[in-house]
Amino acid sequence: MSDRPSKAGKLLVYRHGLTTRITHWLNVAALSLLLLSGLQIFNAHPALYWGAKSTFARPWLSMAAEEKGGRAIGVTTVAGHRFETTGLFGYSGKPGAEVPRGFPAWATIPGYRSLVDGRHWHFFFAWIFVLNGLAYLAAALVGGHLRRDLWPSRDQLSPRHVLHEIATHARLKFPKGEEARRYNVLQKGAYLGVVLVLLPLMLATGLTMSPGFDAAAPWLPDLFGGRQSARTVHFLCAGLIVAFVLVHLAMVVLSGLWNNLRSMITGRYAIDVEGDAA
Ligand code: HEM
Repeated sequence: MSDRPSKAGKLLVYRHGLTTRITHWLNVAALSLLLLSGLQIFNAHPALYWGAKSTFARPWLSMAAEEKGGRAIGVTTVAGHRFETTGLFGYSGKPGAEVPRGFPAWATIPGYRSLVDGRHWHFFFAWIFVLNGLAYLAAALVGGHLRRDLWPSRDQLSPRHVLHEIATHARLKFPKGEEARRYNVLQKGAYLGVVLVLLPLMLATGLTMSPGFDAAAPWLPDLFGGRQSARTVHFLCAGLIVAFVLVHLAMVVLSGLWNNLRSMITGRYAIDVEGDAA
C-alpha cells in the first residue's frame, strides 16, 4: 500500500498488515483470559515446586493463610523468604468476608472458586491462542513479515546502534523520519523474544502438564525436568509476558498512544517527514 500525506509535515505509512492486526487483538483477548483462568487453576494448589513431584513440604513458592495474634493473615513464601500479603495473596476478599485463596477473586476467572470452570475457560482460550498463533506465524513466514519487519537488519545489530537505541529510549526519545518506518532493534528483540521464545515455551509447558499429551510424548516432562518444573516454567513465562505487556503498554503510550493504536487498527502510522531522530 502506498504512503499518504497527512497533516503538515506528516506522512501516513502502511505499517501493519491485516493478519498482523487481527491476530494481535485476538492474541490480546486470548492471553488475558488465559492469564485470569490460569490464576484460578493455580489457586487449586497455590504452591510451586521443581522436579517431577509436588513434595508438599518444600515448595519454592507458596501462598497460604495463617493465624497470627488471633486473626488470619495471608503469607507468601518465596525461596524460604516470608512476606505478609493479606488482602492480596493467601487471604483476601471483601472486608469481613475474607477467605484463604492464592490470588484474589478480581484476578481470576471465574471470580468464585472453581477449578472445573477455570479449566474450561483456560483450555477453550488455549485453542484460540494456538490457532491464532499458527495463523500469525504462517502469514508472517509466507508474507515475509518475519524476515522484513521483525528480523533485525545487520546495521541495527551493530553494538554502536544498539547502545544508541538504549540511550535514546532511556531519554524517552523515539525515532522520527525514515527511521520511524521500521521497528527499532529493541522492539524487534522484544517482539521476537515473545513470539518465538516465550509463547512457544508457554504452549510446550502447558502440554507437558497434560497427562493425555504426556502419554503420546513421554519425553516432554523429561525435557523440563519433570511435571512440576514444567508448571513452574509455565508460571514464570506468564509472569514474563505480564512484564512484557506492562513495558509494551508504557512504550505505546509514551511513543504516541493514538498514532500507535490507529496503526494496529487501520494499519496506517503517521511519521514525521522533517528531521531524522529526535
Ligand atoms: C497480551 C498482550 C500483548 C502481546 C503479547 C502483544 C504483542 C505484540 C507484538 C508481538 C507486536 C508486534 C506485532 C508484529 O509486528 O508482528 C505488537 C505490536 C503492537 N502492540 Fe501489542 N501486544 C499485547 C498487548 C497490547 C495492547 C493491550 C496494546 C494496546 C493497548 C498493544 C498495542 C500494540 C501496538 C500499537 C503495536 C504496534 C507497535 C508499533 O507499530 O510500533 N498491544 N504487540
